[in-house]
Amino acid sequence: MSAHRIEQRTADGSSTLSHPAHGQTYHSLDGAWTQARERYARGARLAERAHELARLGRARLRLLDVGTGLGLNLAAALEALEGTGVVLVATSLERDAALLEQVAREPREPESLERRHAHVRAAIRAALQAPGAVNVPLAGGTLALRVGDARETLLALPEYERFDAVFLDPFSPRVEPELWSRDFLAAVAGRMAPGSALATYSAAVEVRAALAAAGLRVGLGARVGRKREGTLASPDLDLPALPPRSARRVARRASAGTGGFAAGDAEGAAGIL
Ligand SMILES: C[S@@+](CC[C@H](N)C(=O)[O-])C[C@H]1O[C@@H](n2cnc3c(N)ncnc32)[C@H](O)[C@@H]1O
Repeated sequence: MSAHRIEQRTADGSSTLSHPAHGQTYHSLDGAWTQARERYARGARLAERAHELARLGRARLRLLDVGTGLGLNLAAALEALEGTGVVLVATSLERDAALLEQVAREPREPESLERRHAHVRAAIRAALQAPGAVNVPLAGGTLALRVGDARETLLALPEYERFDAVFLDPFSPRVEPELWSRDFLAAVAGRMAPGSALATYSAAVEVRAALAAAGLRVGLGARVGRKREGTLASPDLDLPALPPRSARRVARRASAGTGGFAAGDAEGAAGIL
């Protein structure tokens, strides 16, 4: 790996990188691959949704992946859809082209990750080689990789485009606040199809309030590693309830208007604290 991004082994044997400027890791050190599978693929109900879509005679699950990063969440999405008869149609937003170049070259371990990640790398390589292409093949489905600031690339998607699942995985608000703003989260919410679910590692009151203010139902994401809880959101699904006290704080903050992070909202590196 590049000297600027230090590779770190995580507790489940998969590795991640640390960011060259602010030092946060791209995944939880409790297990990068575990986080991708449990926080994102399972949290956003990919397998269940794929089975529902298959019953409706639909062959594609549309995923919005905010923060491509190393592509582990995309690999977990491929794994979740295996055996469902539904292929992944992913739109992935990433502003760091140098990171994508690096990711496209490097194999990932362990084997269960590498088997799916090889498809992700091939798709990222193809997308970088054909920047004008809308979609490149991804394991029977497609990847639309949008390189640039997600606040712009999301807005530039065709107006009709909607998603069956959303992975919301920017770095924490302390170092990269842009993608946690109420405006951006409202734009994400506006792209969610009926029956869709969003998953994020953040459990910050302000993030939950922003999702609620955008008209979504907000629920509790499961414990993953040492991270006690994350957040789920959906336009219409019944989600695991937030503890009553949290739910009251979220409702108060959502109706308080413009939002903004307070000191008590601080969270650590992606998915850790
Ligand atoms: C925690 S990492 C994502 C890890 C990734 N989901 C994975 O599965 O490997 C956060 C990513 O969001 C990207 N990011 C942060 N701010 C962004 C922005 N405004 N627009 C697009 N991407 C952004 C970062 O460059 C970084 O790659």
